[in-house]
Amino acid sequence: MASSSFSSAFVVLLGMTYLLVASKAQLTPNFYSHSCPQLFCTVRSVVESAIMKEARMGASLLRLFFHDCFVNGCDASILLDDTSTFIGEKNAIPNKNSLRGFEVIDQIKTAVEKVCPGTISCADILAITARDSIVTLGGPAWTVKLGRRDARTASQLAANNNIPPPTLNLTSLISNFQAQGLSATDLSNIDASFVQTRRSTCPNTSNGSGDTNLAPLDVKTPTLFDNSYYNNLINKKGLLHSDQQLFSGGSTDSLVQAYNSNPSKFNSDFVAAMIKMGDIKPLTGSNGEIRKNCRKIN
Ligand SMILES: *[C@@H]1O[C@H](CO)[C@@H](O)[C@H](O)[C@H]1NC(C)=O
Ligand SMILES: *[C@@H]1O[C@H](CO)[C@@H](O)[C@H](O)[C@H]1NC(C)=O
Ligand SMILES: *[C@@H]1O[C@H](CO)[C@@H](O)[C@H](O)[C@H]1NC(C)=O
Repeated sequence: MASSSFSSAFVVLLGMTYLLVASKAQLTPNFYSHSCPQLFCTVRSVVESAIMKEARMGASLLRLFFHDCFVNGCDASILLDDTSTFIGEKNAIPNKNSLRGFEVIDQIKTAVEKVCPGTISCADILAITARDSIVTLGGPAWTVKLGRRDARTASQLAANNNIPPPTLNLTSLISNFQAQGLSATDLSNIDASFVQTRRSTCPNTSNGSGDTNLAPLDVKTPTLFDNSYYNNLINKKGLLHSDQQLFSGGSTDSLVQAYNSNPSKFNSDFVAAMIKMGDIKPLTGSNGEIRKNCRKIN
């Protein structure tokens, strides 16, 4: 899946990172506690059944949140459909034919509208859904801050420019994250038999016949949230160039080693990183809106 840019790179880079929140977010965990006490269990049950149906969906839902937050903040702009008069982000290069899970978000939105009509933003649904996906796949839980509102605009250009492609080297990955207010200090190898295996699964044919073939980003436990990704990197089995860049003699080697040997450090850094990413430029107060349908502005 070479076109995929859910490089788990973002885990390391966010994990090692200290956010300077540009516009101080005013998000709070209990934002809907009076207006929608049923929110969390409603979201959770749809996420769980979607992942039970297809385990891969958990990673897809997490990737939706990542690709939303990196493009002008966590404002659900990613969910807006293209129309004859509106160009959204779904067909930007990092998203087209690889971003998925929109139907699951629709199901969640429908279920949430049923219990709390016109109350919960699609941007907050994405944030809760990312957390619930990780938990469902065996990862750590965290408290999700809420109160984001939905954008009335989107930017295909910003999606093309801001989401890190899988071809980036460590230096460029770090500057890409710095552009989001996420800072990191500085950063190929590949196992020869791993290359052969991947080339047979995903051949580079001139007619593009292999383009829909899939290869896991984590060869060991593709549908579990765990730290084996880092063990793969140490064994030179990173799928994407940008993955293996995290362990190729640069400044993040020691972090990859730490996450490999200490899963609870990985979990706690991951949780801190997710909370920081969720704080990127939310619309709050009277900015934006609460969309009725996540796919279009009201
Ligand atoms: C990383 O990629 C950028 C952009 O392609 C390039 O300018 C830079 O020289 C590369 N850095 C290293 C260390 O290879
Ligand atoms: C595409 O090319 C490959 C070999 O390069 C061939 O095996 C396959 O049949 C072709 N598919 C189509 C749809 O033409
Ligand atoms: C894939 O094939 C195309 C031509 O069909 C070629 O231009 C390109 O360099 C190849 N990519 C790799 C990674 O081998």
